[in-house]
Amino acid sequence: MAVTQTWNTTELVAQDKAHLLHPVSNLKAVRENGPLVMVRGEDVFLWDSDGKRYIDAFAGLWNVNVGHARPELADAAAAQIREVEFVPTFFGLASPPPIELATRLAALFPDPLNHFQFTAGGSESNETALKIARYYWWLSGKQDKVKILSRNMAYHGIAMGALAATGIPSYHEGFGPRTPGFLHLTPPYTYRNGEGMSEDEFVAALVRELEETIAREGADTIAALIGEPVQGAGGVVVPPQGYWPAVADVLKKHDILLIFDEVITGFGRTGTMFGMQQYGVTPDIVSFAKGVTSGYVPLGGVGVSDAIHDALSTPDRMFMHGFTYSGHPVACAVALPNIDIIEREKLPENAARAGDYLLGALRDRLANSPHLGEVRGKGLMTFVELVADRKTKAKLDPSLNVSARLTKATRDRGIIVRPVNDGIAIAPPLTIQQPELEVIVNAIGESVAEVLG
Ligand SMILES: Cc1ncc(COP(=O)(O)O)c(C=O)c1O
Repeated sequence: MAVTQTWNTTELVAQDKAHLLHPVSNLKAVRENGPLVMVRGEDVFLWDSDGKRYIDAFAGLWNVNVGHARPELADAAAAQIREVEFVPTFFGLASPPPIELATRLAALFPDPLNHFQFTAGGSESNETALKIARYYWWLSGKQDKVKILSRNMAYHGIAMGALAATGIPSYHEGFGPRTPGFLHLTPPYTYRNGEGMSEDEFVAALVRELEETIAREGADTIAALIGEPVQGAGGVVVPPQGYWPAVADVLKKHDILLIFDEVITGFGRTGTMFGMQQYGVTPDIVSFAKGVTSGYVPLGGVGVSDAIHDALSTPDRMFMHGFTYSGHPVACAVALPNIDIIEREKLPENAARAGDYLLGALRDRLANSPHLGEVRGKGLMTFVELVADRKTKAKLDPSLNVSARLTKATRDRGIIVRPVNDGIAIAPPLTIQQPELEVIVNAIGESVAEVLG
């Protein structure tokens, strides 16, 4: 039986305030108020250092797809560490887990995505994807095809290349000049950008902007377009059904590669194994992370098409890209049984079912709130957009500090979600069932009423 350790919250909080530099946090507030320290997890639940239980309605950071603390994943990590903890994949070396995982992924992803390189996370995966796109054209004798198209509201990570593709202004402020060669397009954000248009008209307008951008810049200067099938951190932007097929057609016509960033959407979250399957579009390159190990150990990667793999496999040069932890045996050894769980327990199907319920229940619960903009989502990527005025869609005044107040209100009610300036992102483990979904919906309803009236 597991021994449950007791923790000294006062001491942990004091040490955190003194020494832990938190990412994506208001550092002054954390230094004043201290962190909320989670010490234990099980399935969709987390317990803090004082023993209070929460529903983890954000699955860590949209990544704990199979739920917390699965013994078989602990066993897989321990077994691999006992066998051999690290072998690189540099210089033609390998160990069984990355070989087995690449083989498994080749079977899971649609053809022709059959070749995989691993990383330690999403940003590294997108750096890799962007560099492969440029390198592919360079090897093909088209050295000027270097520009990258992306979209506003996109989140691709915080390393310099991934950041350059990211289209959320707050991630850029204060971090110096942007990496050149990145262009941002209008996102398929129907609530604000598609007003007064039918779905087809909206898609046509977005495609026109893409065509005009290509005409202006020149297709022979553009390497790739990178996009999340469903934009996550920017506010769960679910595109109209015809958007990706139309975009993919334009890119193909102009010889521009399509990179799908499946860091959130991969491994079941949208209701299919991959987000691309929602739209029937296969990219040339795919990046992934998070759900591939459900966050138990850090792992990411990219998949490339047969054509790109052939082009990269030149006899006269080395492929000079890779991270120390590309293909870490322990991470890959955990990914394999994690994918087994996702398939065996039909978690994509549960994500679709639970996500549909959550959308409907949140819409009902918030129907009378003067501050409901809209509830949108795909599978278990859900967003409640909050506004100052429902009719005019006026944005909430940032000085109201709504995100901090909603964070407190929701935690008081025992749920962990991600409130941002304009709303609340919800993305629980894909194992979640009806009773916990009801708790989440009630807690959000009460919190919005408490904070906004
Ligand atoms: C779509 C997407 N791409 C990339 C990243 C970056 O991943 P990481 O934080 O592992 O570098 C994230 C992280 O949330 C993401 O949501």
